[in-house]
Amino acid sequence: MAKKALSFPIYVLNGPTLNLLGTREPEVYGHTTLADIEKMVTVRARSHGLGVVFRQSNHEGDLVDWIQEARIKGCGIILNGAAYTHTSIAIHDALRAVQAPIIEVHLSNPHAREPFRHHSFVSTVATGVIVGLKHAGYLLAVDAIAALLKDNKK
Ligand code: DQA
Repeated sequence: MAKKALSFPIYVLNGPTLNLLGTREPEVYGHTTLADIEKMVTVRARSHGLGVVFRQSNHEGDLVDWIQEARIKGCGIILNGAAYTHTSIAIHDALRAVQAPIIEVHLSNPHAREPFRHHSFVSTVATGVIVGLKHAGYLLAVDAIAALLKDNKK
């Protein structure tokens, strides 16, 4: 594994209203809380020898700041931008400046939902996209980043 991967964490960034996971529309998003996801992601990342910085904000600028931080201090980004996925050119532009792998994750499958969720400003700059698998998508995203970092070393 690349040296940067061992010493630099994966940034797992979560957008608006994901703080309410577990109680918010559980039929759509599942019963797992964001704290549960953080624990599972941390364990999975550790199994790959990776650390995690796990954050959530309801504010677009926080997400932009954290993407810029991850650009310098992270080995990859897992982003569930929530509603900002569908609206934010600011997040799109921040991601464009990132060299490390970016995995876009959604708990639900936005393509099977309302038309306003069908467009993503993140997908066009993401390395990969995982949707519709509830919290398991985050764990697969960790595996994907670990595999991509390994491949980069070859
Ligand atoms: C979401 C999907 C978005 O359309 C929605 O705005 C969210 C959650 C998901 O994880 O399924 O807040 O990102």
